[in-house]
Amino acid sequence: MQEIMWVEKYRPAKLNEVVDQSDTVERLKGFLKQPQDMPHLLFAGPPGTGKTTIAFCLSREALGENWKNYTLELNASDTRGIDTVRTTIKNFTRFVDKSSGIPFRIIILDEADEMTSDAQTALRRIMEESSENSRFIIIANVSTSIIEPLQSRCAVFRFKRLDEQSVIKRLQEICVAERIKYRQEALKLIYELSEGDMRKAINQLQASAALGEITPENVKATAGIGRDSDVKAMVNYALAGDFKKSKEILYKLIYIYGLPESDLLKMIFSFISSIKDIDQAKAAKIFADYDFRLLQGGHPDIQLSALLADIAELNKGGANKN
Ligand SMILES: Nc1ncnc2c1ncn2[C@@H]1O[C@H](COP(=O)(O)OP(=O)(O)OP(=O)(O)O)[C@@H](O)[C@H]1O
Ligand SMILES: [Mg+2]
Repeated sequence: MQEIMWVEKYRPAKLNEVVDQSDTVERLKGFLKQPQDMPHLLFAGPPGTGKTTIAFCLSREALGENWKNYTLELNASDTRGIDTVRTTIKNFTRFVDKSSGIPFRIIILDEADEMTSDAQTALRRIMEESSENSRFIIIANVSTSIIEPLQSRCAVFRFKRLDEQSVIKRLQEICVAERIKYRQEALKLIYELSEGDMRKAINQLQASAALGEITPENVKATAGIGRDSDVKAMVNYALAGDFKKSKEILYKLIYIYGLPESDLLKMIFSFISSIKDIDQAKAAKIFADYDFRLLQGGHPDIQLSALLADIAELNKGGANKN
């Protein structure tokens, strides 16, 4: 299916395009006036409020045209191996081309609250070693999961849930750009379901738009819950050997409906468990394996596609698909 995800399509590229979070944006713009004085930064706050987006906007605006060459992004799955991180960061910061005119390199450490305190302690040393020509942006959901010595080295920015007016206005802009008709009360409903999480709101908008107009009925029909029938269809396609169709549904569930991979894994497992002719011991081993891989930070789309392929194998004996 490969639909374009609206959360990516409408991700702000410049600080000026960011919705709400005006205190944060204003303070950051202040740093841009004199980039060399910019401290390390810590962004903390709930999901879908613009932390990762703003980190990239800032890099783009501070470092100019070739910003990508001077920006290193590491996320939770990378930071588990702290020695690798040290090497990666050292290599990244080793050569500074003064003639390039860039003030420093930027290292974005996303999902830092997943790091152990040992890893964070190691990170503190790494920051000291490479501070001269680089700035860190540490991103976390809760600031208290970041050890004090790291916090104290950063200017802290607290992100808040987005307010109703800002989210609804953004949803309206997207509807206009996508030429989708909407009812105002449907957008209000999306906001309420989103809990101030713009990613959730936009995903919900796209899921509803797949049914036609944005009406309260369509919003309710696609509101996260009740994806059972899709999961069943996906598994049945896999069992029947139609991997392509099965994967299409998987992508829809992950990217359009924004279903978390752990939920999806549990739903698939519970459906498989209800099928009589499947070797359940073998199935349990497969699921335990994927549970582990996802926990280790494997890409959900890749891991779950592979799971579907393994599920297809389970049916070699000719299972009864209900
Ligand atoms: N303040 C915002 N203004 C405009 N769009 C936003 C804003 N915040 C989030 N979005 C939209 O939501 C998507 C997700 O945002 P982002 O990745 O920045 O969230 P996050 O705060 O890093 O969340 P998480 O804690 O889950 O990583 C973006 O692609 C963008 O479309
Ligand atoms: Mg993020």
